[in-house]
Amino acid sequence: MKYLLILGRNVELSNAEVSSYFESHENKILNSELIKNGLLIETQEPLEKGLVNSFGGVVSVGKVIASGKPKEIIKKLENENLYMGKSNKLNYAIWNFSDDYEIFTDYLKMRFKEEKIKATIKHLENRMEMQDGEMAQMVSSKLLDKEYFVFGKDIACFGEIYETFDSHALEERDMKKPVRREALAISPRLAKILVNLSESEPGKTLLDPFCGIGTILSEALLQEIRVIGIDKDKSAIIGARQNLEWSGFNRTDYRLINGDSTKEKISHADFIATEPDLGEIIRETPTENKARATLEKFEDLIIKVINNFKEDISGKITFTSPYIKIGKKRVGPNTEKILTLTGYTLIYKIPEFRENQIVGRMIYVLQGRK
Ligand SMILES: C[S@@+](CC[C@H](N)C(=O)[O-])C[C@H]1O[C@@H](n2cnc3c(N)ncnc32)[C@H](O)[C@@H]1O
Repeated sequence: MKYLLILGRNVELSNAEVSSYFESHENKILNSELIKNGLLIETQEPLEKGLVNSFGGVVSVGKVIASGKPKEIIKKLENENLYMGKSNKLNYAIWNFSDDYEIFTDYLKMRFKEEKIKATIKHLENRMEMQDGEMAQMVSSKLLDKEYFVFGKDIACFGEIYETFDSHALEERDMKKPVRREALAISPRLAKILVNLSESEPGKTLLDPFCGIGTILSEALLQEIRVIGIDKDKSAIIGARQNLEWSGFNRTDYRLINGDSTKEKISHADFIATEPDLGEIIRETPTENKARATLEKFEDLIIKVINNFKEDISGKITFTSPYIKIGKKRVGPNTEKILTLTGYTLIYKIPEFRENQIVGRMIYVLQGRK
């Protein structure tokens, strides 16, 4: 079974999210290939319906209809129904991750003409700036009835997109929840990414020791992961409780504690996914000394919290940290210090920021030494 996942703007982060997700679920990736923000995966089992909404960094999912040399693909497509809509008017686009794009645009034009479908191809423009500065294709699915893709170099694949991330449902959940804290809360998309990076599994327990109003907790509960949230701010815990109740989660699946995560005791959790305090809000590029002072404060906090919980945690720890712009470069925490003083090893760290953001994020995934 081969599928194409179209990744969001931070390809490195989304790619890591997808592999972590499959690590912690039964269905496994057998092979994968990345071209720009297109990730082709071959999986053991078919992908479950709606899977796209389990990721924070995947835009769309498509399935491969035919693969091989372009001529072989076209031959196979002759026996496939490429458009099953009722209207004979069709707006379509082809995501291009291949040098053979023209061969397929020509073929589809001819094919739809033969089938007497008034088909209009919408060319996708490179309008999305990715984390690495490259531009990627972007699509407004609302205007399209159908999306296809071509992927690969010598041996190509042709397929169709069959589901797209439901950003409307996510926005509704985010905007309508009873308690919002815009300045502090993490986006639900990034919250999903952190949960997946921690390789949390349904039925196990995830701890967010800086839970705020519970965004990460909600995204984990949606994946049937049990959660414990701690925050030293009582009003944040009250807000988190209101938000989780509003979402209708089962009360036995979550525990909220108003306490200090450098000291609080819990009996057991399997994973940590969290966004600690990233320091005060900075509106102007700080001096290197000021940035380092913020980072040191962060390092001390995260080290204390990891050490406080490490006996109770068997799995991975994922957290965001400040990644601060000073002049042309950015500085993040002292990774060596965090690793040495906690005894954890680094799986990876991935930057996540927008160019104009002074305090971006460096995302860490750590594993305890076994
Ligand atoms: C960046 S916010 C987390 C936001 C959260 N992800 C959300 O969506 O609301 C950091 C939170 O950590 C809490 N905090 C800071 N130091 C703490 C500590 N030592 N123990 C527990 N919570 C702490 C703050 O009260 C704040 O709510």
